[in-house]
Amino acid sequence: LLDQSRERLVAAHGLKPTIVGVVDSKSAVFSHQGIDTRSLLEAKRSSRGLASLSGSIPSPVNAAELITDTDADCLVQAVPSNLSAPAAAVDQLKAAFVSQKNAVTVTKAPLGVAMSDLIGTAAASRVQFRYSGTVGAGTPFLDLAASLAKSDQIDSVEAILNGTTNFILSSMHDRGMTYAQALAEATKLGYAETDPTNDVDGIDTAVKLVILANHAMNAGRTFSDVKVQGIRSVTAAHVAAAKAAGKAIRLVGRIDARGLRVAPEEVLANGPLDLPGATNAAVFNTTTCGPVVLRGSGAGGPNTATAILRDLVDIWRSTKV
Ligand SMILES: NC(=O)c1ccc[n+]([C@@H]2O[C@H](COP(=O)([O-])OP(=O)(O)OC[C@H]3O[C@@H](n4cnc5c(N)ncnc54)[C@H](OP(=O)(O)O)[C@@H]3O)[C@@H](O)[C@H]2O)c1
Repeated sequence: LLDQSRERLVAAHGLKPTIVGVVDSKSAVFSHQGIDTRSLLEAKRSSRGLASLSGSIPSPVNAAELITDTDADCLVQAVPSNLSAPAAAVDQLKAAFVSQKNAVTVTKAPLGVAMSDLIGTAAASRVQFRYSGTVGAGTPFLDLAASLAKSDQIDSVEAILNGTTNFILSSMHDRGMTYAQALAEATKLGYAETDPTNDVDGIDTAVKLVILANHAMNAGRTFSDVKVQGIRSVTAAHVAAAKAAGKAIRLVGRIDARGLRVAPEEVLANGPLDLPGATNAAVFNTTTCGPVVLRGSGAGGPNTATAILRDLVDIWRSTKV
C-alpha cells in the first residue's frame, strides 16, 4: 500500500515515509538509508525471510530494545497479542514513547488492558499515539466518534464490531445452518481462526468497545469492566424464532449509562444492525444530531493498512502545525 500510495501521499500531504527497520517473529532488519519495500516483500516471501536482506539481525531479537535504539520517527505495530499476555506489545509501545517516537498500532490487546496508561506515557513524552485500525480496520469508527463528540454528546452506542460472529449468525439466519456448520464454514473461508475463542466468546468485540468508549467518550475503561456473553449458546431454534418475528440475532456491543456490554441480541430485520456477512456497523446516538450510523468492512490486511496510513498522515500533519 505504501508503494501504491507514494505519489498521492506526497501530492496530498508532502509525506514520504521511509521504512528504516522491520522486526518480525524471527529476525529484524535495519537500515538508516531506508529499506526498499519491494525487496522487503520479496524477502518476506522467501524461505530465509528478513535474514536474506543486508543489515539483518538474526534471532533471537528483542523488539523493545531495537525500537529504543533505532532513529525512526514512528513505530508501526501490527503484531498478534492477546489479553492473557499483552505485556510484550505494551512494552514495545512504551519503548517507542520513552525514546521519543510516535506510534501507530493496530494491535488491540495493549489498549484493552492499558489504554489510559499508554496515552499518558505518550503525552508525557510529547509524542503522538494513533490506533484507528484497532476498531473496524479501514472503516473509521473511531474518527467518526471523536468528530461527533467534539461538538455533541454521544449518549449511547450500539455496534457490531466483529465480522466473524456476524458471518456465523447471518449464515444461521439466511441459510438455516446450525452454529457448528456456520462456524466450520467461517473457518474454511478464513473468517474464523483455528481457535475462534476471541471472536465467538465476544472478547474481540469487548476490547473494541473499550477502545471506542475511551477514545470518544473518555470512559477510562478496561476489558475487565465489560460484561461479555458470546454466541456459542445461540441455537438454530433461537435464530428461527427471531426470524419468524421479523428479527435477526446479532452479537451487539453496547455503551450507555449502564456501562459496556456485549451479548447476542435480537435486532430489527433490515435495521441498521442487520448486516450481511462480515460487515461491521455502529449507531452513535447523539443528543443533538440523533442517531448517526457508519457501516463498512471491519477486517482485512489492505483495509487495516489504510488505517495505518491514515494515522501516519495524521501524525505527520500534526507535527507540521
Ligand atoms: N488483519 C486484520 O483484518 C486486522 C484488523 C485489525 C487489527 N488487526 C490486528 O493486527 C495485528 C496483526 O494482524 P495480521 O492479520 O497482520 O496478523 P499476521 O498476518 O499473523 O501477522 C502478524 C505479524 O506479526 C509478526 N510477529 C509475530 N510475533 C512477533 C513478535 N513477537 N515480534 C515481532 N513481530 C511479530 C509476524 O511475523 P512473521 O512474519 O515472522 O510470522 C507477522 O509478520 C493483530 O494484532 C490483529 O489483531 C488485524
